[in-house]
Amino acid sequence: MDEMASYWTQYWQGGAKSTLSDIDKSAYGIEVSNKWSESIKEFCQQGAVLDLACGNGDLAVQACNVLQALDKHNDVYANDYSEIMLDKKVQGEFALKKVKWIPSTDAVNLPIESNCLSLAVSQFGFEYTNTNLVIQELSRVIYDNGHLCFLVHHDDSFICKQSKKEFKMYQDMLNVTKIYDATKNLLLELKITKETAITEKLRTTLNNKLGHLYDNYDDKSGLFELINLLKKLLANIESISIDEIESSISTLERQSMAHFKRLEHMISVSFSRETIEQLMLEFKKSNFMQVKLEELTTSVGLLGWWIIVKKQS
Ligand SMILES: C[S@@+](CC[C@H](N)C(=O)[O-])C[C@H]1O[C@@H](n2cnc3c(N)ncnc32)[C@H](O)[C@@H]1O
Repeated sequence: MDEMASYWTQYWQGGAKSTLSDIDKSAYGIEVSNKWSESIKEFCQQGAVLDLACGNGDLAVQACNVLQALDKHNDVYANDYSEIMLDKKVQGEFALKKVKWIPSTDAVNLPIESNCLSLAVSQFGFEYTNTNLVIQELSRVIYDNGHLCFLVHHDDSFICKQSKKEFKMYQDMLNVTKIYDATKNLLLELKITKETAITEKLRTTLNNKLGHLYDNYDDKSGLFELINLLKKLLANIESISIDEIESSISTLERQSMAHFKRLEHMISVSFSRETIEQLMLEFKKSNFMQVKLEELTTSVGLLGWWIIVKKQS
């Protein structure tokens, strides 16, 4: 498995429903969900539906539910490059059985027959792929007059702005202050030698680093996770083993690294006004006509680019 697949796999195996799952119950989560239901109803004709770069398949599940409510029996495919978590707790029993899941597969080469899809949807997924090749692949599997409906990252959206801030914080934690090493060094020294001049020095170093991170970044969630772990380990320093200290800090560091990589990836694939125009030209080259290109704004602010194209006959 390559690096990209492994840090997304780590995320999906944790059981997240979608990268928007935190906001599922918020007003704008409902707005986005309603928008998808309307589009699935409007554009799904005879033929199958595909959720491209589906993650744990939140949108594929929604497509199943919308189609079932309409008493339609279209096939629903869901594809992702990483190993997704297929579990009735995540997708629900009906969608788990109904959807034809295609995990661990690059969207450039879909194991789907030509001209059999009426609609492909993607929620913050398509932009992560090799978009030019995937457009060509989609032009093979979508039948004439079928549609693509994609929500893609906008480099000015509130999600991207927030991610850029978080990215800087994690970069500082992991690569500049090396805060996980500083935490581990103090705990191991305390475990081995108890309070000494060395532990005092390590404690001061760690405090300075924590203070620097606290003062310089607004989003402190990653920092608080580390501080909570540090407090827990300090409180149990007598009973906990050296191996346990090492493994708990390493696990948190690995999780932070994966989060950092996902943020880095997301920032790099988001579309600006200039690059979205180039993307629309790529659609055109593969015979997809633009139906809609708009900045999707929710009650919270700009969320992303909303793209609808139709394959010409
Ligand atoms: C931000 S997540 C979005 C997942 C899902 N659509 C959602 O809304 O929760 C991006 C996904 O794109 C997938 N991905 C990246 N490159 C891909 C490729 N070449 N083919 C298929 N999926 C890919 C990643 O594995 C990841 O699950």
